[in-house]
Amino acid sequence: MAMNRPRGTADILPGEVEKWQFVERTVRDVFGRFHYQEVRTPIFEHTELFQRGVGETTDIVEKEMYTFEDRGNRSLTLRPEGTASVVRAYVENKLYGGPQPSKLFYIGPMFRYERPQAGRQRQFHQYGVEVIGSDDPAVDAEVIMMAVAFLQEIGLKQLQVEINSVGCSVCRAAHREHMMEHLAGVREQLCKDCQGRFERNPLRILDCKNESCKALTKDAPTVLDHLCESCSTHFAKVRTFLDACGISYVVNPRMVRGLDYYTKTAFEIIETGIGAQSTIIGGGRYNKLVSEVGGPDTPGIGFAGGMERAILAMQAQSVSLTFADQVDLYVIGLGPKAETQAVQLLQSLRTEGFRADKDYAGRGMKAQLKTADRLQAKFTVVIGEEELQKGAAVVKTMASGEQQHVPFADIGSYCKKHLGGEIK
Ligand code: HAM
Repeated sequence: MAMNRPRGTADILPGEVEKWQFVERTVRDVFGRFHYQEVRTPIFEHTELFQRGVGETTDIVEKEMYTFEDRGNRSLTLRPEGTASVVRAYVENKLYGGPQPSKLFYIGPMFRYERPQAGRQRQFHQYGVEVIGSDDPAVDAEVIMMAVAFLQEIGLKQLQVEINSVGCSVCRAAHREHMMEHLAGVREQLCKDCQGRFERNPLRILDCKNESCKALTKDAPTVLDHLCESCSTHFAKVRTFLDACGISYVVNPRMVRGLDYYTKTAFEIIETGIGAQSTIIGGGRYNKLVSEVGGPDTPGIGFAGGMERAILAMQAQSVSLTFADQVDLYVIGLGPKAETQAVQLLQSLRTEGFRADKDYAGRGMKAQLKTADRLQAKFTVVIGEEELQKGAAVVKTMASGEQQHVPFADIGSYCKKHLGGEIK
């Protein structure tokens, strides 16, 4: 029986993987410029971390986690997101003892049991950042601006930044009361999930994707109308910084995000050209999360974006994504003795920094020359009986057609000279 990959996963093959490498390189480059450092955490964690961190009333914890028991009867979960893990690592490794804030980024696979569609997978990949140890609204502005800078750098243009404030426990208590009052009359008409949320976390009802719930809550009060003075000032400052830097955004008071840890600033970046799964980055502040997972009372903020969606958006906007399968030199050895020489030559060329290859399928000279063409080799090197005796191979510079015998040991420097330093 042929084996297939599990539903909601993907193989990223040569031809496609170069796009991923490009996006990952850009992440490292842009985030590095903003002075963020990489962190790598385990792919599985204790289930409790996500239950406490992400929140019991979220879709993620209620129905999307890949949870299993290991052979020691511990409940473990494949990470559904990166924030809880990074915060756990921050606390466990006492990063709060170093210079603050800690500005961290990560790239890696995440796992959620969701209904797969374009831009939504069960194993997907996020790039993300977390700044832990500062409540300065300039940090909120910095992470939003860094997200925009990154998306622009990969060539996206149809971006819409949406921001909101979901307040703190003080604002939320006031909002909760109004929300429950407002929805009391329609409680029975809400979907089953929202009826469950009514007592436990009525704010989540604003995030329901169900059309009838959306209609019923159209005029529901938002936290933005209930911000306390401190949250209101914070939000105003974030906006001032964004305005000063010419970042355009819209305030969306209904955007509450799907995770429970958010406080104050929440934001999403939408790419308007890719259809249904158009949120390519989501993030916000989480001032209670560090203490929630057992650390000191420390504020934090961050965001994450889906690699799959970033690449879909690049394709939708026809960002040029063709990466050639290319070599600098293609070496052809004719006959067993020449082949040993070819293997030796390849080894030394690669050590010198060239991208070089040869045939491993026993093909004839003509077929090998075709392969050299397909790989856009800058030089083709041929070694036959005569060349072995001379100790020099025929090197053909493909661009000019010029060809001459070059001693084996000098081929690297000959090619470098011919390319005028194009190859290091
Ligand atoms: P999130 O909104 O759950 O937030 O996910 C962030 C991004 O990950 C989404 O906007 C989307 O691009 C991508 N994503 C999520 N689920 C999937 C999926 N099933 N398939 C493909 N892509 C997906 C978080 O994960 C928070 N940890 C973000 C954050 C960091 N907040 C503060 N710091």
